[in-house]
Formats: sequence, C-alpha cells, structure tokens
Amino acid sequence: MNSRSPNGAADAPRDTPAWTRAQAMGLRRTDETVAPIFYPPAERIDPDLHIWDTWLLRDRNGEIAEIDGWRVFFSLTASAELLPGKRHDAATIRYFYSRDGRTWYTGDLVFEEANVFGSRRWAGSALYDDGRVYVYYTAAGDSAEEHLTYGQRIAVGAGGTIETSAEGLDLRGPWEHSVLLEPDGDRYEREAQSRGPIYTFRDPWFFEDDGETYLLFEGNTPIPKGSDACGGEETHQEFNGSVGIARSPTGDPTDWELEAPLLDAVCVNQELERPHIVPRDGRYYLFVSSHAHTFAPGLSGFDGLYGFVADSLRGQYRPLNDTGLVVTNPENAPFQAYSWLAFSHGEELLVSSFFNYYDYDRPSMDDVALLSEAEQRRRFGGTLAPTLRLTVEGDRTRVQGKLDYGHLPVESEELPALSAFEGRGWTGTRERSDAGGYGRYVDRDDPDPGAG
Ligand code: FRU
Repeated sequence: MNSRSPNGAADAPRDTPAWTRAQAMGLRRTDETVAPIFYPPAERIDPDLHIWDTWLLRDRNGEIAEIDGWRVFFSLTASAELLPGKRHDAATIRYFYSRDGRTWYTGDLVFEEANVFGSRRWAGSALYDDGRVYVYYTAAGDSAEEHLTYGQRIAVGAGGTIETSAEGLDLRGPWEHSVLLEPDGDRYEREAQSRGPIYTFRDPWFFEDDGETYLLFEGNTPIPKGSDACGGEETHQEFNGSVGIARSPTGDPTDWELEAPLLDAVCVNQELERPHIVPRDGRYYLFVSSHAHTFAPGLSGFDGLYGFVADSLRGQYRPLNDTGLVVTNPENAPFQAYSWLAFSHGEELLVSSFFNYYDYDRPSMDDVALLSEAEQRRRFGGTLAPTLRLTVEGDRTRVQGKLDYGHLPVESEELPALSAFEGRGWTGTRERSDAGGYGRYVDRDDPDPGAG
C-alpha cells in the first residue's frame, strides 16, 4: 500500500495500512463480485419485526456455538410498523434460535433493562464462553437526550446464561453492563473532531488469534484541518473511516486497551462498517461493509462487502480483487442487501446479509423518502437475505452461488457441490414502466417478475 494521493502529492507520512484512492478508482461491478438478484422470500423470519444487522453467537475460536443442538443469532430489530428508514433510531437487540440453521424462532429482547450508556443499541458481536454469554454492542446517543444525538461508545452486557429444552432456548440475564472503549481523540476520532458526514465509533467484533484476544471496531482517523493528507484536498479529508482494534491484556473479554488501527480509508471512505476477520491459509481476510454514498468525492463505489488480506494480523493489508470489492448488489437492485458477514465453511466462505430495499433501482437510497410510506414498507426486506457462497484464492474471491434466505450452516453441515454459477441479476433488463419512474427489476435469466 502506498501513502501517495492520486494527485501525486505526498500524504502526511502515516504508518496505518491504507485503502487508497488509486485502488478505489478501479471499482466496478464484475462477474466475480455481483450477487444474483434476490426476490422477496415467501415468508419473513418474523413479519412483526424489521430485522437488519445480524451476528451469530460464537465461541472463542470463532466457531458458531451449538448449545444442546441449538444455535443463536442476534439482530438489530424494530417493530415492522415503523417506517424502515426510522429503524436505526429505535434499534433493539433481539435473539433468534434454530436447530437446523434454516428455521429460526424469535426469542426475546436480549436486554430488558434500559440503555444507561446511550439511547439505542447498535451492532456488535456475541461470545459464548464457559457457559456465559457476552453481548458486545454500540451504545449510541445519550440516555438523557431529548433529541437524537450520535455519540457512540462500545459496551458489553456480560454474564447472560442459556437454558434449553426440546422446544426452544432461553437467554437470560442478569447482565452486567460496562462501557469498554471510547475514542482517544488521537488514533480514533471523537465526535467533536469529526468533519465528515457520518461519525463512527461502533460495531465491536470479538476475535481471538494466536492466544491473544481482540475486539475490532469501526472508527475514524483524526485528520486535523490544514493537514496535507489527500494532497491537502479538504473535501477528501472529511472521509476518514478506519478499522480499529483493542487487545485484552489478560484474555478477560471485558478488559480492553485501544491499539493503533489495522487499516484506514482516509481520502477514500467514511464508513468501514462491521469489520471482521476470517483467518484462512495463514492469512488474515478483513471484511467491512460500506455504502455508495460514503465514498469521498471523485470516487464511485457501491453498497458492498469490501475485503483486504494480509500475511499477519498487523500486516500490510492489500485490497482483494485489486479494488477491495468482494460482493455487491446487481445494478438493477443496487440496495437489495447490506451488512454482510463472512464466515468460514470448509473450503469456502459463506456471507450472510439482510434483505434491504428491493424492487428499487434509483442510484441513491435518499430517494426512498420520495416513495409513499406504503411503498417504503413494501420495498423493504427486513429479514435475512439468501446466504452467498464465496470461493477464495489468495487475493481473489468469487461469488459462486447462494443458499436459502437466512440459511446459516455450521461447519459440519454438508452443502451441495458448487457448480458453475447460472446467471447474474445485473445482466437483467430494466423496465421503467413503474409509476414515478421507479424501475421494476427483471432478471433476464429468471422469469420470476419479483414482488408486487
Ligand atoms: C450498518 C450500521 C451499523 C450500525 C447499525 C445501526 O448497517 O450502520 O454500523 O451499528 O447499522 O442501525
């Protein structure tokens, strides 16, 4: 990775491996990176809920935990009566459980108690260790606020326990809540320092490597006004996403010290969301989700899963597939899925995500607000998307197929053999006959006309 801006001017010398503008300039949809089109499922996991960012309960080794034959995922949820765009302001964490990774039952809210560190809880991760559950989350806003605020701190609810029966699974407190990490203003920007559009310090991800215990998270690198970063281009400096890391000196999953970021995207992108690592063949595959609208001026990317690989945890991360793009949505359904999570399954990686806005092909998600409320609801998936199958070879990846909606298999579950992949939504034709110019998607390779 280099520390030169594409303008040729030297950036301020920085040690953090960088996703550079030169690399991101090459972003484009390819056969390897575009997911097939998703049509609405016959059933949502829970029709009463919007379900979005999701994470599995895993053990210290990163394996999906199985407790008496049950597995568990956690999601940000809100009432399905809410306008989908409002859900972030009312997010609550709920659990779901399954015996086969296909049929999921809705559990309770994880925490009954109020959020004392913030006004709502955003994404995180969950560890099952020695019979105890640790749910890491983002405490967003301020518990005393009258109007929504956007400060963020990384917190945990520790000490939950699980009881199972033939019929189901119960996750119970009491939980001991504590704030684990706040930005230091030096390696990680505080909200007051932010010059960018959307401030971040969130999405903790538990991860062990070589006997060491880590928490990854999404942050921003402080770039003071007047800095020569991005060749001095101020409008680019406002985009400064990073992947942060903290280490537990003792292995205690509630005791963390901030360390320098693993990667940043200064001059490139503001939000490197939900960072996570999949170790494979002695390499470290680092994944983040990001949006089309969070790229710096002059760059055009996609809502997508982006990935980087290094030979050691703190190595020189290189973007996968040259640009970093690993999975994106078809051109005619560019917001059909978001918040991807890659996990290992034998030779391949599986990638879960939630079903976002479908039957919607405007270039910006902002235009969702122009639709009637009924249409905003109709076009929002609010459930898990089909799980994608990804092959990985060195610095290259390829979307190779898909599993069913919300199918989250454990390692021991055999999957159908991978075959040549049949067709991709982005080659589909677009019909622009729909009222108001909102195109209706049609996949040339799939005659199903989709929803509604
Ligand atoms: C990604 C995200 C997360 C955040 C959550 C809030 O979908 O922006 O970074 O925790 O949504 O709803």
